[in-house]
Amino acid sequence: MPDGAGPDIDAPQRAIIFLGPPGAGKGTQAREVAARFGVPHVSTGDMFREHMARGTPLGEQARRFVQNGALVPDEVVLGMVEERISRPDCRSGLVMDGFPRTQPQAEALDEILRQGLWAPPRVVHLVLDADQLLRRLTGRRTCALGGEIYNIYDRPPKVAGRCDNDGGELVQRADDREEVIRERLSAYQAQTQPLVDYYHGRGVLASVDAAGSPATVTERVFGALGQAP
Ligand code: AP5
Repeated sequence: MPDGAGPDIDAPQRAIIFLGPPGAGKGTQAREVAARFGVPHVSTGDMFREHMARGTPLGEQARRFVQNGALVPDEVVLGMVEERISRPDCRSGLVMDGFPRTQPQAEALDEILRQGLWAPPRVVHLVLDADQLLRRLTGRRTCALGGEIYNIYDRPPKVAGRCDNDGGELVQRADDREEVIRERLSAYQAQTQPLVDYYHGRGVLASVDAAGSPATVTERVFGALGQAP
């Protein structure tokens, strides 16, 4: 969305969930979709990284899991998410990225949404092959100021090492080292992949081919959500 432009689509009045393996483009697409709907982008990964950077007790609890590519325990994640969803800015809907990631998290989210009288969520499942996942993860750089996501291979900034939006320094995530990536991919297969069947069975899941340019994928995502991009 261009700088300074307001939301161009009515708010979704529900939770839109991005599901998919590390590097599939959840953060890239969730930021775009949230901006166009004018609703918050809630990324549990970003929240943990912020807590870790600030050295909060929650960040210290999460650190060893995140650094090793393992999932943070459900009870830690759930407390943080429940508090975030309860804030007034989520009343017209929100876009979730990286949550839920386990069956207990999905069931807890169902309960939170039910109690809040929310409509059922819409789940966008991003699908990408392993070679491309690795290329995207090893090439990722993130703005230390605004969080904008780049890729040195496929989405480079105009000036090397600097964010196009605010000139912030572009940094590599500590968990984007190859040995940690392997752990993250295997945690995804074991604990998160089963949610594809869970949401498919409830008729709320749309699988989207995540190959191609970010703009192409965004078009497919809005198509899957039944909205013109
Ligand atoms: P999190 O931050 O959620 O990481 P992740 O799921 O591993 O996903 P990524 O952020 O790595 O990838 P992405 O799919 O968002 O891709 P992106 O858009 O950045 O979680 C980190 C850690 O926190 C976890 O390992 C865990 O420890 C903990 N955690 C978080 N949530 C948790 C939970 N619910 N329960 C327990 N623990 C939890 O794109 C990747 C790269 O590809 C970028 O460089 C981007 O520019 C590029 N790219 C994107 N789309 C395209 C495209 N179409 N074409 C070319 N390049 C593209």
